[in-house]
Amino acid sequence: MKLTEEINKRKTFAIISHPDAGKTTMTEKLLLFGQQIRSAGTVKGKKSGKFATSDWMEIEKQRGISVTSSVMNFAYQGYHVNILDTPGHEDFSEDTYRTLTAVDSVIMIIDATKGIEPQTIKLFKVCKMRGIPIFTFINKLDREGRDPFELLEQIEDVLEIETYPMNWPAGMGKRFLGIFDRYHKQFVRFKGNEEEEYIPYADLDKDSYLDLTEQPMYQETLEELALLDEAGDPFSLDRVMIGEQTPVFFGSALAPFGVEVFFNTFVKMAPSPKPRKTADKIIQPDYDAFSGYIFKIQANMNPAHRDRIAFLRVCSGRFERGMSVKLSRTDKTIKLNQTQQFLAASRETVDVAYPGDIIGIYDPGYYRIGDTLTDSKEPIQYDELPQFPPDLFKRVTAKNVMKSKQFKKGLDQLVQEGAIQLFTGHPYETLIIGAVGELQYQVFEHRMKHEYNVEVQLESIGERIPRWLDQKEVDVKLFDERNMLVKDREGQFLVLFKNEFALNWFKDKHKEIDLIDLFEVN
Ligand code: G4P
Repeated sequence: MKLTEEINKRKTFAIISHPDAGKTTMTEKLLLFGQQIRSAGTVKGKKSGKFATSDWMEIEKQRGISVTSSVMNFAYQGYHVNILDTPGHEDFSEDTYRTLTAVDSVIMIIDATKGIEPQTIKLFKVCKMRGIPIFTFINKLDREGRDPFELLEQIEDVLEIETYPMNWPAGMGKRFLGIFDRYHKQFVRFKGNEEEEYIPYADLDKDSYLDLTEQPMYQETLEELALLDEAGDPFSLDRVMIGEQTPVFFGSALAPFGVEVFFNTFVKMAPSPKPRKTADKIIQPDYDAFSGYIFKIQANMNPAHRDRIAFLRVCSGRFERGMSVKLSRTDKTIKLNQTQQFLAASRETVDVAYPGDIIGIYDPGYYRIGDTLTDSKEPIQYDELPQFPPDLFKRVTAKNVMKSKQFKKGLDQLVQEGAIQLFTGHPYETLIIGAVGELQYQVFEHRMKHEYNVEVQLESIGERIPRWLDQKEVDVKLFDERNMLVKDREGQFLVLFKNEFALNWFKDKHKEIDLIDLFEVN
């Protein structure tokens, strides 16, 4: 059946990494495989303004960055690949987290010279909490990096996930010979820039390869491989699918080396769209009605028109441009005429889409993050998106007290939209805004000024570790500046700890109080 075929072809994923680990370089190489760009450097060109940015949000124009993630799609080896970009650097925001709810798997890139870095941990936690399969690519093998065993150990210790090396490097940097591709049982020989040779294990004892196999580094690696075979965890695709084991690949995105082997294995193993949960049922992707949910709204792409684009992940059925759908929250019927697909910064009209695809819908102000759209006769409402714990907090006030009405209105709407999270101090009702990235504050300030005509004052209370309390009554005397008591918008108490030390001290002192980490409960 056509729909099932289309679903099985879909591979929708995001690439996560700490800035500079090589996400852009990898994305470029994948787009080259998909023949979406003619030369490497095009994606990077975004930063230098090669792409038309005419109708992007003003902040975006000023800073030359893409505020929200874009989506790229292409055909590869019979698959339909959708890559959702997750912004790095300072443009990190809750949108980045929400984007991860719309993917079926994730590629995690780690710089071999640096190991696990902070932003990778943040993004990884979201994947773990959602049980998303994670494929690891350890990059920059052309440089002298950390010992591969040490890197695997770090992934296992810090991220608490089992690793299975799908391939294993013979040397690094100047002594880099290539990789043993354990999965396909072949040696991929590194021959310098853009050249690799595939040698089946069975051929490696031939005389013609003596120049390789007699090298001490090669021999050393054989011993390591034997150790892995004996002592390592066995590969389990089932465990990979529930996010308990990560297949690890080594290579260099820049060379490029090992990227093709990696991607060929990835597209085969990565899951196609899976069933999705609603409050009372499970919707299969091949359900015969169209349904999807909005995971991101990009506001004010054109300030003159105040228009917005809502990003929708198709979850079931077939989408056709012009179809009438219902917005489950309000029961409003909407005709979807203006829909787009994305390649980096350019957009094309999309006529048909299937589960796993992401479409951009023109939003005249109808939608909210988490909204479900469907043409099913049965009502469908996908589960709400989880609340992601912010780690940056700032007190907010209106510069001009005469504007308190607009201030409140703007604040309410931006909280509704999911652009920021609002907390109130307890018992003194100071307003505190939580975010996961600095850019969220800039967008907030900008929008308050331009859309609600209010200038706001933000005062940082620094990075904090939030922990929720599972109780309605609290003794306010237990809290102070170092462990600040606040309420979220549902009236739930939480404590903003100044650092790990303050958190542990409190835990020790008040064993009777349960402290809940949102990353662990959603
Ligand atoms: P990001 O999107 O994760 O932030 O990283 P990006 O791909 O921009 O890569 C960061 C830097 O690391 C770039 O160098 C890039 O060329 C380099 N890089 C990526 N993959 C590899 C690799 O496999 N080996 C080596 N040696 N370097 C790699 P840059 O100097 O910051 O930028 P550029 O001047 O090359 O554009």
